[in-house]
Amino acid sequence: MDFEQFFKSELDGLHEEGRYRVFAELERQQGSFPRATRYTDKGQQDVTVWCSNDYLGMGQNAQVIEAMKKTIDHCGAGAGGTRNISGTNHYHVLLERELADLHGKESALIFTSGYISNWATLGTLGQKIPGLIIFSDALNHASMIEGIRYAKCERVIWKHNDIKDLEAKLAAADPRAPKMIAFESVYSMDGDIAPIKDICDLADKYGAMTYLDEVHAVGMYGAHGGGIAERDGVMDRLTIIEGTLGKAFGVMGGYITASTALCDFVRSFASGFIFTTALPPALAAGAVASIKHLKTSQLERFAHQERVRRLRSMLDSAGIPHLRNPSHIVPVIVGDAAKCKWISDLLLDNFGLYVQPINYPTVPKKTERLRITPTPLHSDADMEHLVGALHQLWSRCALARAVA
Ligand SMILES: Cc1ncc(COP(=O)(O)O)c(C=O)c1O
Repeated sequence: MDFEQFFKSELDGLHEEGRYRVFAELERQQGSFPRATRYTDKGQQDVTVWCSNDYLGMGQNAQVIEAMKKTIDHCGAGAGGTRNISGTNHYHVLLERELADLHGKESALIFTSGYISNWATLGTLGQKIPGLIIFSDALNHASMIEGIRYAKCERVIWKHNDIKDLEAKLAAADPRAPKMIAFESVYSMDGDIAPIKDICDLADKYGAMTYLDEVHAVGMYGAHGGGIAERDGVMDRLTIIEGTLGKAFGVMGGYITASTALCDFVRSFASGFIFTTALPPALAAGAVASIKHLKTSQLERFAHQERVRRLRSMLDSAGIPHLRNPSHIVPVIVGDAAKCKWISDLLLDNFGLYVQPINYPTVPKKTERLRITPTPLHSDADMEHLVGALHQLWSRCALARAVA
């Protein structure tokens, strides 16, 4: 086989379908988030980032940075091994305690990313619990889908956020089979939110475990940043809450929180946990500082919500269509892959505004969008700049305006 030719022709296919991904090369500027320096063949450019998942700017928080620096000075750079073989650092243990407390669970287990936490946990439980059926929301994240696939257990896909469909599917399954319902709280592309309480009610009725991915909610919702389940007062009803340390907490890593027996089970059987080097201690220390801060400070959460409302109202005034959802994610719908990419390119090149286009297959065709994530650190002037630029480009592209 001509391997090179194979790789090239597959990549050509992506180009032809308009699905080839181009990364913006950025250098984040500590202390002036959301600004970054963009590197291109033509030189450098100052840009404002509008699509970061560092939703609260905690990646720039002074306490987080200080904790990381101190820990590097104290412990060095890496963890030095897997958790089992010399890699378990004091800061990993502190972080797991902090996370268990955040979600009101007995225990927590950290992983190298949110992706791996979903993949390893769902994969292990699906593989090891005899006859487990996983009921998976149709819009679950790739990491959950891959974990369930890897488990090779029976899986049933239910219509996104559709309680009736979920109930019909639970009722149709073998009543004796062990069951798990796997879903997310905030869905990151549409920004809609799952009816967690109703799903827990169904789980109780059908004797199912629940697995909730709160990746796009932890830090941002609930009085202590425990996520939508905390906000809705239902954390104790979930068997497993999964989250990331890489988005609102501003660092990196993933985790599950659950009973001590369940966490110990995953710790003992999940290859994605066992056979990989542990997170650097400084990351764990930074995450502890971030979680501790957001457990008590409401400033970031309030400012975040206020900034989201402000941007939405400015978009409304300019007639720029965006999905109405109850979360902090503002999807501006373009509805055409080529135009979406073109607008994103012009925003970056001509206005210094970075919003990555989101095209098929991440979202369905004709719903191509700019997924905008305002943070507490975007100013009114930043918003005026963004909305003004979108206003101009909407006219140039002859895109429909929303009627307020
Ligand atoms: C819903 C969801 N779960 C899990 C992940 C993976 O988290 P991480 O980025 O920490 O790997 C993502 C990443 O974007 C996500 O959107």
